[in-house]
Amino acid sequence: MKVVSSRAELAAARSALAGRVAVVMTMGALHDGHVELIKRARAEADSVVVTIFLNPLQFAAGEDLDRYPRRLEQDLPLCEAAGADLVFTPLPAEVYPSAPIVRVSAGPIGDVFEGAARPGHFDGVVTVVLKLMHLTRPHIAYFGQKDAQQLACIRRMVQDLDVPVDVIAVATVRDADGLALSSRNEYLTDAQRASALVLSRALATRDVVAGRALVDAEPGVDLDYLERVDSATFEATPDGDLIVVAARVGTTRLIDNLLLEEAA
Ligand code: PAF
Repeated sequence: MKVVSSRAELAAARSALAGRVAVVMTMGALHDGHVELIKRARAEADSVVVTIFLNPLQFAAGEDLDRYPRRLEQDLPLCEAAGADLVFTPLPAEVYPSAPIVRVSAGPIGDVFEGAARPGHFDGVVTVVLKLMHLTRPHIAYFGQKDAQQLACIRRMVQDLDVPVDVIAVATVRDADGLALSSRNEYLTDAQRASALVLSRALATRDVVAGRALVDAEPGVDLDYLERVDSATFEATPDGDLIVVAARVGTTRLIDNLLLEEAA
């Protein structure tokens, strides 16, 4: 496995990759959810590129950019064991040589739910995803279903901007007790982690009213939304194929979702 951090090294290493190339984009602090993405890419593509880049553009002032876990020494062996051929680990100045004044807009999908709570977040995501697609030149890109709204924004960006990349969603990986894996779970105390299990329990009711009641009854958990939406547009609709939930547990914002047709 080759590890590079500059654009020039990436371009040279990418040119040497054979066949159908997959990319898995991450912000590091890898867990089994990321490992699953890399393994899927390994199984389905000829060559696998992983990017590890903590993208400042998708964090607003006051969010957790400064305390977001960074541990490249532990991430690299995980990439290698899961089958990555090439890992791109740039610093912000490599990805943004000058402060970006042109950005991609995620449009209305990026303004609701997570986008309402985190204004500008999805513009920052789709901007860096497009840049990393240009830099890594993949045929296929794998993203986790856990970040369902991010997935919808990326799919729509690829469609609307004619980006020649197949976007594949990979099912959410959960701990045995149901908690969806997230790098942000590390912020939780044991008691908060136990309280956070209410999110997957609420989704399992498959009913927004019952689900909200469960979350509202959980001490220490502050529900932001639990809604049924269309997974492609993120419009709230009683016929939606996805239930999304977000809540604050202590100071940590957690999200989860359930695709209804898969859960039947
Ligand atoms: O899901 C993430 O880790 C990030 O939002 C992504 C897609 C790597 C873009 O920075």
